[in-house]
Amino acid sequence: MIPESSGLMIPNRAHTAPIREHIDRAIDDLLASFPNLEELCPDERRGMVARYTAVLEGNFIYWMTAAYLSVGSEEAHSIIQANLHEEVRDNHPGMLRKFAIAAHAVPTDSDALAVYRNLENVRLFVGRLSGVRIVLMMTFFEGFITRFMPYLAELAKRQGSAEQEYTDVHGVCDVTHTQELYRALEAEMMLTHDPLPPANNLLEGVELLRTLIQNIIQPRV
Ligand SMILES: [Fe+2]
Repeated sequence: MIPESSGLMIPNRAHTAPIREHIDRAIDDLLASFPNLEELCPDERRGMVARYTAVLEGNFIYWMTAAYLSVGSEEAHSIIQANLHEEVRDNHPGMLRKFAIAAHAVPTDSDALAVYRNLENVRLFVGRLSGVRIVLMMTFFEGFITRFMPYLAELAKRQGSAEQEYTDVHGVCDVTHTQELYRALEAEMMLTHDPLPPANNLLEGVELLRTLIQNIIQPRV
């Protein structure tokens, strides 16, 4: 966790470094906790792709829209708008659905139920429309997605799928998205002269999303 005295109150690139480090570490820890692909049975592989699809397909654009509605700076608005534009224009939900179909991993009722509680927790958080915290959560999300793509692609390949458009696109474009969202974060932090909330509070969305992602990998979190 970031110490409260770590300089989070001064919003520029140098002073968002502790946040970047925290997010990078959270992503590293998450990926390191995932099971070895060699040890997974077909049903476990199917479940992971299905739960990932259940979470991302209908929620990513909605949560990015919440970020758009929550921010106040012109720069953050334009960065998030460009992100949403690409998602909608290039039909990313459709790309993910195609990926799940090809891997025989279309989400079932029980896949949706397995992530229900943790998904609902993220939805309740997002509904509070807290700009800086949602942008932080989405930055973590984009960063995670990019780094997760090789694992997700391999799950699908082992399920007999040759469909890799979703994983190819997101392994590349989300690197830029992550950097852009850090710029949006800095712009938002510049808006307020009030002290930012303590780090624990600031990272609430990141923690809720991290639990949800753990739940995608392990159905009983
Ligand atoms: Fe996308």
